[in-house]
Amino acid sequence: MSGFRWWQDAVVYHVYPRSFADGNGDGFGDLYGLLDRLDYLAWLGVDAIWIGPIYPSPMVDGGYDVTDHTDVDPRFGDLAVFDRLVVETHRRGLRLLMDWVPNHTSAAHPWFVQSRSSRDNPRRDWYFWRDGTGDRPPNNWRGFRGRPAWTFDERTGQMYLHLFLPGQPDLNWNNPAVVEAMHATLRFWLDRGVDGFRVDVIHCIGKHPDLPDEPAALADVDQVSIHDHDGTHALIRGFRQILDSYPGERMMVGEVTLRQTSAVRRYYGQGDELNLAFNFLSLDAGWDAAEWRELLDHVPSELGAAAWPTWVLTNHDTVRHRTRFGGSVHRARAAGVLLLTLRGTPFLFQGCELGLADAEVPPDRRIDAYGRDGSRAPIPWDGTAGHGWAGAAPPLPFPPGSDRCNVAAQVADPDSVVHLYRRLLLARRGSPALRRGGWQPALTPPGVLGYRRVYRPDGPDGSGTDLRLVLVNFAGVPASVPVDGDWRVEVCSQCPATGHRFRGELGPEQALLLAPAGRPPIR
Ligand code: GLC
Repeated sequence: MSGFRWWQDAVVYHVYPRSFADGNGDGFGDLYGLLDRLDYLAWLGVDAIWIGPIYPSPMVDGGYDVTDHTDVDPRFGDLAVFDRLVVETHRRGLRLLMDWVPNHTSAAHPWFVQSRSSRDNPRRDWYFWRDGTGDRPPNNWRGFRGRPAWTFDERTGQMYLHLFLPGQPDLNWNNPAVVEAMHATLRFWLDRGVDGFRVDVIHCIGKHPDLPDEPAALADVDQVSIHDHDGTHALIRGFRQILDSYPGERMMVGEVTLRQTSAVRRYYGQGDELNLAFNFLSLDAGWDAAEWRELLDHVPSELGAAAWPTWVLTNHDTVRHRTRFGGSVHRARAAGVLLLTLRGTPFLFQGCELGLADAEVPPDRRIDAYGRDGSRAPIPWDGTAGHGWAGAAPPLPFPPGSDRCNVAAQVADPDSVVHLYRRLLLARRGSPALRRGGWQPALTPPGVLGYRRVYRPDGPDGSGTDLRLVLVNFAGVPASVPVDGDWRVEVCSQCPATGHRFRGELGPEQALLLAPAGRPPIR
């Protein structure tokens, strides 16, 4: 098993801090709340936690508008509680990843305040300022979700570039002073003991100094989904050198929102760039066996052997997969089996382990400029009126059914979704095939996705070979799936029972993790 790094073996739990848990009663999730819930995450059985941005921020983009990359917003806590979080996370055998936001800062960041103050300010060139007007912006780029990428600033009569909101000006990484200043922010958190970073829209940071137009055919296309400048790779190698210069295994997983796996592949470099890259094709995939089969063939063939895949079904920017897949809890359960048995590192967004659907957010309670509030709803911790948010109510409504579908109720019920996830995480931890093995498609009838995970150690006698078979019935009717050999059910998406023989039948929207018969069932 040599050569594997912890992030290849890990399941990463994604915390969106504002809506995870509130420790000080102000209705705003914080690090105190997260500390209180670490035992829950350890009980669940995840290996690492990625916390969304906790930096000081005006919160025009949920904290992805940073005014200081080396501090904690008072709404989340302070550096002392952060240090406690590092200790307490590690004490439970978990790793901690920060969200690092290098493409832009907040417009309220002192760097930008200086940059915009005059054309000859020493920080002018830390951002992209160009001549232009609303009718004739400096180039034809479109910002995220088609919005303008340039804003005119009266004071100095020029426009500045922002791939996201006007409150998020893009940093100019062509300026060595920016590189140096941002490197220092990486070191700041590495020195405090974090295990690494999730790096926000990393594919956007490198930019041609002339900011040339896109070809006319791409002029209306959101830059964030196509930006792919070669200069980014040298910058990433610089980050990697910093990470590798620290003791312990520090890592970074980059958000590359390009939807071409071959393009994502390049961000792993020659093993000297990202340790992992998100590949969001799985975020878009529907509830369809054929679509998943195609994706599971496509991803490893495009990534090649050296680039370890990642899998994600939901994050804070998308509709939850339960909602995306049509609302069925059976589908949400079966999707859990899928996510946690694939070859690659799964990222599990908070609340998916409860089978949550998106909250309905009425117009007067919307927060996010892009309407991404549904999946960012607060986690219901119990069935009381406040759902464990003891003081002020959180600004977003709770997900539907929170009186029954909450952490306390599910932890008490072995048949719940959270116990299913726990069994899956336990099974994954105990199986080299699931964590590290190869992936092979299995022959299945239409509507059923099937694959084997196979781990063969290097030893001459083949002892220690580990094998699993996964079957997911996407159809709303039962399916017969004849399989070779004797298999027992290790995890079933719809019932807590385990250890019984597989008789070749799958229920509607049911998924099974099967182990060769003859191995003791997990407890
Ligand atoms: C990433 C984040 C998203 C944010 C954007 C700008 O895509 O996940 O929430 O709006 O970057 O920072």
